[in-house]
Amino acid sequence: MSKILPIVSRYHVFKHRKQILKNPIPFHHDNFNRLGDIFKVQVGLGKEIVFTRHAGFIKQVLQKEHRKYQKSALQTVDLAKYIGHGILTANGDHWKTHRRMVQPAFHRQKLQALLRTMHGAIAHEIDHIRPNELQDVYPLMGDLAFQVVAKSLFSRDDIQKEMGELKDITEANQRMLIKEMRQPYLNWWYRLSGKIGHHLQRSQRARDLLTQIIEQRRAGNKEYDDLLDMLLKATYEDGSSMSQKQLLDEVLILFTAGFETTANALSFTLYLLAKHPTAQEKAYQEVLQAKVKDGFSMETLGQLNYVKQCIEESLRMYPPAYYIDRECIADDEIEGYAIPKKTMLLLAIYELHRDGQFWEKPNHFVPERFETANKRDLSDFYFPFGAGPRMCVGNNFAMQEMVMALACILQKYKVRYTGEEVRLNPLISLKPERVDLYFDAR
Ligand code: HEM
Repeated sequence: MSKILPIVSRYHVFKHRKQILKNPIPFHHDNFNRLGDIFKVQVGLGKEIVFTRHAGFIKQVLQKEHRKYQKSALQTVDLAKYIGHGILTANGDHWKTHRRMVQPAFHRQKLQALLRTMHGAIAHEIDHIRPNELQDVYPLMGDLAFQVVAKSLFSRDDIQKEMGELKDITEANQRMLIKEMRQPYLNWWYRLSGKIGHHLQRSQRARDLLTQIIEQRRAGNKEYDDLLDMLLKATYEDGSSMSQKQLLDEVLILFTAGFETTANALSFTLYLLAKHPTAQEKAYQEVLQAKVKDGFSMETLGQLNYVKQCIEESLRMYPPAYYIDRECIADDEIEGYAIPKKTMLLLAIYELHRDGQFWEKPNHFVPERFETANKRDLSDFYFPFGAGPRMCVGNNFAMQEMVMALACILQKYKVRYTGEEVRLNPLISLKPERVDLYFDAR
């Protein structure tokens, strides 16, 4: 006989609906503390979701028994209607085939070829920082991360207007999607009032913009060693290339998956460094030693170990992918609880990353815990980029970009804390509401 999962009732959810809409993390934190590491939430309309912060279960779902799980309709239907079926939003053979084709674009050698492009994009964005003034770093990091993906894909400086529009569309569609997810009982109204239709039209506009850029590339016949070239050259087993539609889906996915997550992580890291001047000074000294003024090579990046540890610690405390969703497609079991086929799951990465069982002083910023000498095998309870076959394809790209961006910022500025605690704004990814900091010129 299976044990019965603890339940958070529909009534309890309804009672806390305003809090959940604003920020579901404290609500579920309380549920975890009351009910344990695995529980079921009645979300309304007869639907239930299993929430877990159980390290073994999370690993089982993502890695050991990954064949029993797939991405849920949240991504494959709700998100896919805006951005199509690229590797982020697909399942099964369609995912497998395209993951094989996209992955080589992120190999070390390819990332090396992107070093100069990335640095150019970062340096350009850092020029927008206003020295010695209080500034919200979040929009700044948003532009930086968007430009890094845009330039790594297209190697062009003359499409700023198009990229600005694409960024607005991506953000607006995400805001719409979060409303659909958190207020599913209003979806009939969103459809009827034309709100969803309006956003679908905007998605089409994004596709038109990208089509133009891709057509210009095809017509140009010139070789670029960038992400778009890699996607254009990727072939199926029979030697054929991706259709224009599939290519657009993959490009849109790289923007969607790659920019907001990185912008969030960079903003949180700057916030943490501002709050911890000793750690910031240590990172700055490392940047000075590595002589990043002369540009970046893989070797220079390799020397920025402490900067990397600060990012790793920030990803622990504020994981942009704070929940990972899955749907069970074959009966499974964990700790005596039956997990039947069709169960929808949310893996609470934020909770796991702050679990006192695994992390000493979990709410403290201690980058040193990621030092090689101190590094235990974290792969059982540290999942900022997911795990298993669906692990983030852009994780090395993101780390390279973030180490470089922080090194460039620290080299020019000391970031100063205002005393104001960051307020979380958990949407599809975990964002800060704003991060006001001073950039004191060095
Ligand atoms: C700090 C930055 C980033 C974080 C924290 C992050 C996190 C994640 C996580 C947790 C997943 C797995 C989701 C799941 O299993 O359901 C994922 C998947 C993915 N990420 Fe990232 N990501 C980051 C940056 C990037 C970048 C820069 C790119 C590309 C330019 C990217 C592209 C993707 C793609 C395409 C997938 C889907 C992979 C698949 O399902 O095969 N990510 N990311």
